Amino acid sequence: MTSPIRTERHDNVLVVISDNPPVNALGQAVRAGLKDAIEEALADDGVEAVVIRCDGQTFFAGADITEFGKPPVGPNLPETLDAMEASDKPVVAAIHGTALGGGCEVALACHYRVAVPSAKMGLPEVKLGLIPGAAGTQRLPRLIGAEAALPLVVGGNPIPAKKAKAIGLLDALVGEDSLEADAIAFARSKIGQPVPRSSEGKANEDGLRDPDLFDRFRASQARKIRGFDAPNAAIEAVKAAGQMSYADGVKKERELFTELMTGTQSAAMRHYFFAERAANKIDDVPKDTQLIPIKKVGVIGAGTMGGGIAMNFLAAGIPVTILEMAQDALDRGTGIIRKNYEATAKKGRMSPEQVEQAMGLLTPTLAYEDLADCDLVIEAVFEDMKVKKEVFSKLDEVVKQGAILASNTSYLDVDEIATATQRPGYVVGLHFFSPANIMKLLEVVRGKETRHDVLATVMKLSKKIGKVAAVSGVCPGFIGNRMLSKRQEQANELLMEGANYWEVDDVLLDFGFPMGPFQMADLAGIDIGWHRDPSKVTTIREALCAAGRFGQKAGKGFYDYDEARNRTPSDEVKQIIADFAAQEGKPQRAISKDEIRERLLYPMVNEGAEILDEGMAQRASDIDVVWINGYGWPLYTGGPMFWAQTIGLDTVVAGLEQHGLPVSNYLRARAEDSGKFA
Ligand code: 3HC
Ligand code: NAI
Repeated sequence: MTSPIRTERHDNVLVVISDNPPVNALGQAVRAGLKDAIEEALADDGVEAVVIRCDGQTFFAGADITEFGKPPVGPNLPETLDAMEASDKPVVAAIHGTALGGGCEVALACHYRVAVPSAKMGLPEVKLGLIPGAAGTQRLPRLIGAEAALPLVVGGNPIPAKKAKAIGLLDALVGEDSLEADAIAFARSKIGQPVPRSSEGKANEDGLRDPDLFDRFRASQARKIRGFDAPNAAIEAVKAAGQMSYADGVKKERELFTELMTGTQSAAMRHYFFAERAANKIDDVPKDTQLIPIKKVGVIGAGTMGGGIAMNFLAAGIPVTILEMAQDALDRGTGIIRKNYEATAKKGRMSPEQVEQAMGLLTPTLAYEDLADCDLVIEAVFEDMKVKKEVFSKLDEVVKQGAILASNTSYLDVDEIATATQRPGYVVGLHFFSPANIMKLLEVVRGKETRHDVLATVMKLSKKIGKVAAVSGVCPGFIGNRMLSKRQEQANELLMEGANYWEVDDVLLDFGFPMGPFQMADLAGIDIGWHRDPSKVTTIREALCAAGRFGQKAGKGFYDYDEARNRTPSDEVKQIIADFAAQEGKPQRAISKDEIRERLLYPMVNEGAEILDEGMAQRASDIDVVWINGYGWPLYTGGPMFWAQTIGLDTVVAGLEQHGLPVSNYLRARAEDSGKFA
């Protein structure tokens, strides 16, 4: 097999080039090739400096994740990088694209780093439940200081080249189109000087001067890192860089890395990495399907969802025409969009010019004719089949042929909506989540007639607007809400049997959800859909409304809230629930946290199995993607279906049976054969 690494001589400079598509991951052949190339450079007296660069879309984007969990084949990355750093001929990393993880560690082991302005650098290992494992946690703080290193190692988000230069991670920015030539010139300028090695840097001493730095940083990240193992290990590793010799620090990093690599969290997060990418692919839609160009988008309805949906496209530079029924609704809707942007600008995350730029792309209208030349129109009007059909029939009349007509419906039958048009093949569900400008998930609802080019286009578009897409077939509630309803059923039933509602919430919180169903109800408003007649009370929610307990906005709902929105359980609500249970003749009993957890989560897994059996989801991992991005299922468990496999599908089946809950044939069969959904 030919090596992915080749070398080219430019007089006294050896250029080492990796060509390992798609992302130059540092697989075994790349590591071996790099090590050989360094040996070649050291052995050749004519070579006085080395440049390392990559062909294709990016500099090394990290270790090859597909090798994780398999028996290691040498040379390993740390020894390859040590050989590189040990060279006394200057070695320069020439970076384009994304130098991530092991790729960033390659750069750190080089004596100098130059990059094109569009490049990004980062250590995203925490997103895989890991920490850098090739001395990144030891070289980086020694090069740029512990304070600057912490957010990179613990947060895992890449930074642009300009920022990397400002914090000392890059030595120079070079021409966007002259990376190799500029890197060679840079390398030549360093010949004859003693080489600087990151491992010998002293910048990490900031952590010694200010030892509280680490606890302060941990506290500042508390909400973001709750439940995750890797960020804490990352803080420990950076701290060790200040307290230990380089060699001991590397040993410490290795210990922490190995522990994480063999743990359940990293397995789950690596599963998620590939799940997200798989979810973007539709098995029967050919890869080379011709896409429909989307240059202009229409949105119908400027309410809660329509405004947020519009913002996604504006942020991606795509003009949006937004339509409402009346001027005041239109003004209110566009006013909220502007207010959102201004709030972002106030936080310094947008310039005033960018606000105007985004608003400049927005055209409010009351006339359907203004949507005629849109390539995609997304409907977000009331959740009512009759209204949706009227809208789609109108769209069918005015919007040009070949354009995509999408509905943001949460529950309604997309196939039925499509019958209101003469072009059902161009109709698709695009189910955004609230707040639509923030939530990552996009459920793409595939109607029975939805065309391949429509599906391929919306999958590609979802990535452009920063969403994570997963495809669902047409069924009530699609993947996410369909499973949610099973959880909600049990949550309500548990209350009637005597569970305390705050315990139900706390169980989910402890599991890793950001909040439980009753906190969620308080946040969303308990009066959504309330008939406003206090004399007609047939549910717990109606009883709460009748008592003026509308949720957080009223200062009381299921919980009482103080001014800082801290919740305390309410005796009044406890009594309301007890009265309801008595009325229904439900005996009360103490219910353990284990039972609560099992009864909330196992029926979801069961419903997921039904969804798979019906072919409403393409793969179990798509369901994981939906729940992690749309409903706050904790990433470190890998999503409901992966989690169920981790604890054992037979355990789930036994639990459902024990609690007298239905078990799908599909789930039972998988539990009995492979124990896996795939
Ligand atoms: N190893 C193996 N395969 C990888 C990979 C990696 N590190 N990174 C990406 N791929 C694969 C993807 O699975 C995908 O495969 P597919 O086409 O079969 O689905 C293909 O490369 C293209 O990836 P994307 O669809 O994500 O392409 P984008 O252009 O959208 O994004 C990227 C490119 C920003 C580089 C993104 O792929 C990415 O973030 N990759 C992961 C980076 C990462 O986590 N690196 C750290 C690895 S851990 C590590 O280095 C440990 C070390 O410290 C020892
Ligand atoms: P909303 O009530 O906030 O907004 C609907 C808007 O549509 C209103 O401003 C209304 O004036 C306008 N409208 C109604 N009929 C119209 C018509 N014929 N032509 C033009 N405009 C019209 O409702 P929301 O919450 O934005 O929901 C919209 C859709 O999104 C619904 O189908 C809902 O199920 C779905 N959805 C809602 C989510 C949420 O959390 N609110 C989440 C995901 C989907």
